[in-house]
Order: sequence, then C-alpha cells, then structure tokens
Amino acid sequence: MLNVTVIGSGNVAQHLIRAFTKADGVNVSQAFARKPGNILHLLPEEKIVSDFSLLQYADIYIIAVTDNAITEVSAQLPFKNRLVVHTSGSIPMDELYPHNRRGVFYPLQTFSKKKEVDFSAIPVCLESESAEDYKLLITLANSISAKIFNINSNQRKALHVAAVFASNFTNHLYTLASDICNEHNLPFDILKPLITETSAKVQHLPPAEAQTGPAVRHDSKTIEAHLQLLKEDNQKEIYQILTQSIQAHAEKL
Ligand SMILES: NC(=O)c1ccc[n+]([C@@H]2O[C@H](COP(=O)([O-])OP(=O)(O)OC[C@H]3O[C@@H](n4cnc5c(N)ncnc54)[C@H](OP(=O)(O)O)[C@@H]3O)[C@@H](O)[C@H]2O)c1
Repeated sequence: MLNVTVIGSGNVAQHLIRAFTKADGVNVSQAFARKPGNILHLLPEEKIVSDFSLLQYADIYIIAVTDNAITEVSAQLPFKNRLVVHTSGSIPMDELYPHNRRGVFYPLQTFSKKKEVDFSAIPVCLESESAEDYKLLITLANSISAKIFNINSNQRKALHVAAVFASNFTNHLYTLASDICNEHNLPFDILKPLITETSAKVQHLPPAEAQTGPAVRHDSKTIEAHLQLLKEDNQKEIYQILTQSIQAHAEKL
C-alpha cells in the first residue's frame, strides 16, 4: 500500500484526492490545506492538517499548489530525504527544495473542481532524480491512469506551452465567441456541435489539415465583413493575428 499525502486544496489537489481514494493500492494518509473546509467533502477531518509540523510519514508527498508557491511550500516541509513531487507543467523539478528527494507528477488535463474527469485517460508525465523513485511514481500513476510518460523538465515546459495553446487559448476563444453570441441575442449552445466536431476532427486528422474557414480560403470579402462586425479592438486584433497565422501556416505546407 502506497501512502500519499496531498498538499493543497484547489482544482488538482481535489481531483487527485478523489482519484487516489478510489484507487487500489493507494491510501491518502493526509492532506494539507490552509482552508480545511475546501476538502472536508473528500476526506475525514482527522486526515486534514493546516500545519506542516503535523504531517506524518508518507511514501510520496504531492505538492499541488499554485506554481508561485511550490518552492516556498517545499522549503517548509519539516522532514528530509522523503519523496516530494509537484504537479506543475512549467516548474522545473529542481525548483523543489533540495532537502528531500524530488520528482514531478504532472497530469496533463484541464481540471476544474466542478467538472468530473476520467483519470484513466489522462496522461501523467513523470520525472524523478533516481530510478528507484521513478518506480514509485509509476506505481502511483498506474493506480489512476493507463497513460504514463517519462518527460524531463525541458520537455515538460514545451508541453505546457503546447497545452496552453491547445486548451487555455482555445477556451478563451470560446469565451469571446460566447460574448459575440450574447451581443447578438444568440444562444452559445448553438455553437456546441461545432466545438465538439472541431476537437473530434483532430483525433483523426493533423490539425493543419483539418483547418477550414475564411482565412485558409483567403475569402477576403468575408474577412473584411467580419472585421466590420466586431465592435471591440481586442476582438479585431485577435481575429487579424489568427487570420494571418492560419494563412502563413498554410503557405508553409
Ligand atoms: N488546473 C489545472 O488544469 C492544472 C492542470 C495540471 C497541472 N496544474 C498544476 O497544479 C498546481 C495547482 O493548480 P490548481 O489549478 O489546482 O490551483 P488552484 O485551484 O488555484 O489551487 C491552488 C492551491 O494552492 C494553495 N496555495 C497557494 N499558495 C499557497 C501557499 N503559499 N501555501 C500553501 N498553499 C498555497 C491554495 O490554497 P488556498 O485555497 O488556501 O489559497 C490552493 O489550495 C499548479 O502547479 C498547476 O500548474 C493545474
């Protein structure tokens, strides 16, 4: 049985606690939360601490706090030579304080507390300082996911940038699309089949091949009409930058 302690009580911490609680061979022995109320629905009160000095022995400590706080939190852990990992896509492993054995357990998915996820399909990117700790991390990752990847800190940084383009920026474009719908009394729901098909298509085709729309067709009259319709400078700028990017990329093919 692997004893795991989760540090943090936000999106990732809550999803990990839920997944490990259901997993075979793993026990969430404790969790650290500055606001214990955030995770009382997931763990019994006696397992939640708000003081690092109350942390007991665990095989693996998972720091799932904001990127900015990872180094500071790792430095506050009151023990040495235990396995401590973080869950960030962009923070190098060696930013964890060196008094413990270090590693990374990065689940490549977008997590929001209110939305359930199927962990078995989520890639987990692992890194560690020693082969022995890597085996422990594989055992832990295998308990919740079938997709394990060995990714070093440099690769993970690039992967995270790719993920920001694929998910965070795309979601912001949904937000702008929703604003445009609202401005014209249209329901955002009408776009949902299009959104579903757009993401389904890249499961079968390279994204550049799946590109459609006025930019890749060089339909300049339509592009001009769209720019006329957009009210906000920010929307116009994004429309122009993406149009140029689509056209420049298509020329390279
Ligand atoms: N969300 C995602 O989609 C996602 C996906 C993969 C990886 N990650 C990574 O997972 C980590 C957590 O992200 P998240 O989305 O779960 O963040 P989040 O929902 O904003 O939660 C952040 C957590 O960090 C805690 N925290 C912040 N500063 C702290 C400090 N100085 N000491 C102790 N705890 C502190 C917060 O505690 P309070 O509630 O008390 O403020 C909160 O529990 C990040 O490294 C992120 O890059 C996120």
